[in-house]
Amino acid sequence: MQTVDSLTNLFSPVKLGPYTLTNRIVMAPMTRLRAVGSLPNELMATYYAQRASAGLIVSECTMVSPLSNGYMNCPGIYSQEQIEGWKQVTEAVHAQGGKIFLQLWHSGRVAHSALLNGELPIAPSAIAAAGTLHTPIGKVNLETPRALETKEIPQIVEQFRQGAENAMTAGFDGVELHGAFGYLIDQFLQDGSNQRHDEYGGSIENRTRFLLEVVTAVTNVWGGNLVGIKLSPSNTFYGMKDSNPQETFSYAIARLNDFNLAYIHLMEPNETDLANREVLNPVLPIFRPLYIGTIITNGGYDKQKGNQVLSSGEADLVSYARLFIANPDLPQRFQIDAGLNTPEVKTFYGIGDKDLEKGYTNYPFLEV
Ligand SMILES: Cc1cc2nc3c(=O)[nH]c(=O)nc-3n(C[C@H](O)[C@H](O)[C@H](O)COP(=O)(O)O)c2cc1C
Repeated sequence: MQTVDSLTNLFSPVKLGPYTLTNRIVMAPMTRLRAVGSLPNELMATYYAQRASAGLIVSECTMVSPLSNGYMNCPGIYSQEQIEGWKQVTEAVHAQGGKIFLQLWHSGRVAHSALLNGELPIAPSAIAAAGTLHTPIGKVNLETPRALETKEIPQIVEQFRQGAENAMTAGFDGVELHGAFGYLIDQFLQDGSNQRHDEYGGSIENRTRFLLEVVTAVTNVWGGNLVGIKLSPSNTFYGMKDSNPQETFSYAIARLNDFNLAYIHLMEPNETDLANREVLNPVLPIFRPLYIGTIITNGGYDKQKGNQVLSSGEADLVSYARLFIANPDLPQRFQIDAGLNTPEVKTFYGIGDKDLEKGYTNYPFLEV
């Protein structure tokens, strides 16, 4: 944790790894499904550059391999063409003085063979996630995945490592591992989705093994202080559950102390999680004392709540997702207490390849 006092607020500069960020307002990762053919493009460069006044941008989740595809028009970072596509984005953000981390992602069981050229999704165990997905054959229920064989797991770790290296080639300032929201890393961590009997399942130590192997591989590429990880101990999305989330996440977070990471990005439960079942709430006070490094807190913050949590010293930065969709100049609006545009839910995700700029790059900036 960094030094704070009661005057620390969203506009206090902050050290993050080797960088000094001009504010503590982070743009949270958001899938927007505008990467037609999984290729980052000029429109995405415009979108991210518009939001470069955030202290840090974390990109949308990005596939580390073709088999990690959970969504149509989600970008990847495993081909040369994708690396070239991302270069447009990083150059555009840097030209505006911003910093951007790439979110490395494997969807695991949140996928469907219709998105994977007929192959079954892979996961720690053959347990289907709850929910539906849009695929080229329409909206489908999530399929029961194939359990990874022990000998296959190093290949997946290698995909994350390669993705981290590719992100460096593409000009990113760092990477964030998507360990949240019911995707592959989270699937290994929680016993509702991990019923393995090998060294990757059973005890908490074993369920944390995959996460730690990925963190080790990726920090070997970037160094610890340019790698963050997002965790969501109270997320119930995609049927995620654990028999003892406090114990599981306490262990994982304590182990992450060993890596001198740029940050842990910790997500609070949302209204659906709270309605679904009893979950840890709030998350931050439970885990803050266990972690010695920087914490970005996320979930349901506005300006006032953001300033409060920073001045209390409980978190070091605050990330905003939905507010950044509709307000490309969110920091400036916060600074002068300007009104906020309302995000339009129906254009959160791009559909097909038409009108992709609608609800994406056409939200108005403040008029000055
Ligand atoms: C449209 C949309 C897409 C999202 N995609 C991602 C994603 O790719 N990776 C991720 O970690 N979180 C994703 N999230 C979750 C957000 O990063 C964030 O955790 C959540 O929206 C709560 O923050 P907020 O209350 O400021 O919106 C997404 C959220 C939204 C609204």
